[in-house]
Amino acid sequence: MTEPQNIHTIFDRLVQREDRERLLEQNAKVFWLTGLSGSGKSTLAAGLQRALHAQGKLVYVLDGDNVRAGINNNLAFSESDRTENIRRISEVAKLFLDAGVITICSFVSPTNELRSLAKNIIGEKDFFEIYINAPLATCEERDVKGLYAKARKGEIKDFTGVNAPFEAPLSPDLELKTNLQNEDDSVLALVSFVSRQIRFE
Ligand code: ADX
Repeated sequence: MTEPQNIHTIFDRLVQREDRERLLEQNAKVFWLTGLSGSGKSTLAAGLQRALHAQGKLVYVLDGDNVRAGINNNLAFSESDRTENIRRISEVAKLFLDAGVITICSFVSPTNELRSLAKNIIGEKDFFEIYINAPLATCEERDVKGLYAKARKGEIKDFTGVNAPFEAPLSPDLELKTNLQNEDDSVLALVSFVSRQIRFE
């Protein structure tokens, strides 16, 4: 009995998320960008981050570049590895949230199950699902990283959209069609949506 009481006492002394949010004058939230490879997630995450930073917000982007190269460098793209990828990212995002940081997660996260996992770990009231929607044909045409061509040649197995599934979100909080509007307009729409959620009163 004494141990839990002691732990509780320590928690009481800790600086809370609300204290950090007050310091930063922002409400921390997680904005989860999902979409096919090449749909524009990273570009829009970067644009959103720049805009919020310029407004004096503390914001951080988690994406494949800083996650799959580091903490998740032992994971590939099987169903179970993707699940573990999203589970760890969500736990990291939850810590960022507790740190008071506005957190943008930019991951293919191709199934409703994976996105539900993220939402459950992060918590419904702090999680916003944003669908970066571009048709497969558009993403394939862009093929920024040359991965679609490789997947079509059979050089990459389990490539999302080619030989692994992508399920469109059923009811995203925001959807941006990046084949119908340019980057600046998409960033503006994102900033406008995000600003409403992070407003500090
Ligand atoms: S997720 O499915 O587990 O959420 P994540 O967003 O981390 O994927 O990584 C996707 C990125 O990894 C793609 O943008 C692409 O550059 C690269 N990639 C390499 N192999 C694959 C693959 N088999 N399926 C999807 N993306 C892949």
